[in-house]
Amino acid sequence: MKFKYSIPVVFVLALVIIEKENNIISKVSDKLVVKQPPMVLDSSSSLQTQKPKQKHILLLATTRTGSSFVGEFFNQQGDNMFYLFEPLWHVEKMLTLEGGGTNATASAKAYRDVLQQLFLCDFSLLESFIDPPPVDHVTANLFRRWSSSSLCADSVCSPFAQGDIEKFHCRARKCGPLNLTLAAQSCREKQHRAIKSVRVRQLDTLRPLAEDPRLDVKFIHLVRDPRAVLASRMVAFETYKNWKEWGARGGDVPLDDDEVKKLKGNCDNIRMSAQAGLRQPKWLRGRYLLVRYEDIARFPARKAAEMYRFAGIPFTPQVKSWIARNTQVSPKEASGVFSLKRNSSEHVEKWRFGLPFKIAQVVQRVCRPTLKLFGYKVVNSEKMLTDRSISLIEDKVSARYRLGRYL
Ligand SMILES: *[C@@H]1O[C@H](CO)[C@@H](O)[C@H](O)[C@H]1NC(C)=O
Ligand SMILES: *[C@@H]1O[C@H](CO)[C@@H](O)[C@H](O)[C@H]1NC(C)=O
Ligand SMILES: *[C@@H]1O[C@H](CO)[C@@H](O)[C@H](O)[C@H]1NC(C)=O
Repeated sequence: MKFKYSIPVVFVLALVIIEKENNIISKVSDKLVVKQPPMVLDSSSSLQTQKPKQKHILLLATTRTGSSFVGEFFNQQGDNMFYLFEPLWHVEKMLTLEGGGTNATASAKAYRDVLQQLFLCDFSLLESFIDPPPVDHVTANLFRRWSSSSLCADSVCSPFAQGDIEKFHCRARKCGPLNLTLAAQSCREKQHRAIKSVRVRQLDTLRPLAEDPRLDVKFIHLVRDPRAVLASRMVAFETYKNWKEWGARGGDVPLDDDEVKKLKGNCDNIRMSAQAGLRQPKWLRGRYLLVRYEDIARFPARKAAEMYRFAGIPFTPQVKSWIARNTQVSPKEASGVFSLKRNSSEHVEKWRFGLPFKIAQVVQRVCRPTLKLFGYKVVNSEKMLTDRSISLIEDKVSARYRLGRYL
């Protein structure tokens, strides 16, 4: 019994320490932003004051956590941002082994190297993962090109020829296949660069990026209630059909099934990455921001402004108005599995009425430390799960951990 009570005490103490440090760190980093000297590219030291003045934002998430929505916060920034949407899709696809899955060690290294090059506006390593390979650095196959406004801007939109196929269209205009030489040029002309990825498993595999003196990388780690993520994947992904079947049969899940192990693995990866960030090792100081999707859904403009402040980039009116346009919509407009346009504060609770309680319990069983770390309340009955008046998001944890503050 004694042991049981000693845990919360240690916990609270640790939080107080974290909180104190955070105050110092955010003050210090405020000063550093002001004092930053002009770009120093050939520095061999990784001291903060010698970092280049471009910012490199890496938005890290997993699928169904709202990362496309949050990625738009940067995609919509305007003329100073070069944004790429899931470039690692190609890397994962090429490294997928027969029978599915990738070798985690090999893919982590490839992800890291490709990201590092892309932040330096070098597409050559990425090109080696595009299938079929680009010809003269031109490709018709870049994944979701139209999700990067930078890749559809005038300077990157080559003339459209009759007979060109649809998939390299941009949203609002027709462009020819993507000339990556032009993309690299455009990237070098932009002041800041942002990349969104749902593929990186462990934050610490990216340490070389944080320590690269040519880069000033800021990691924004987007997390969401694992129960909501599973509910959303059950609807959106064919590969979750086992879960769907278990759900349809009342939620009885064979706990030794590989799917359950995979769920646990995902939760553990996210938690370990966040713990690495929250521990604030030297290489991550001032470079890690943990954000919960639920907070973004409730306060999108405020959270977006916080991310920009953290990144050290001015928050533009374009972003603000994009958020306003895309978070307050009628229910009719809000439908669609992959829709970005929706009433985000309502959307955030929807899973509670679709996920069988027994499945929620399975998630709670294997992801408990993750739920706890991020402040998601465990439900102990179906009634509690579906009672809208009970919030499952703890605010006090967000205050303790300073979610959305510089960590
Ligand atoms: C995964 O890749 C690493 C590095 O390329 C290699 O050393 C290791 O043997 C591979 N593991 C498996 C299980 O294939
Ligand atoms: C791609 O753009 C570069 C830079 O403008 C140009 O030199 C090159 O010819 C273009 N490639 C193709 C195949 O049009
Ligand atoms: C969005 O949903 C919330 C919560 O259900 C509701 O209070 C709000 O009125 C909705 N907004 C719009 C524009 O539909």
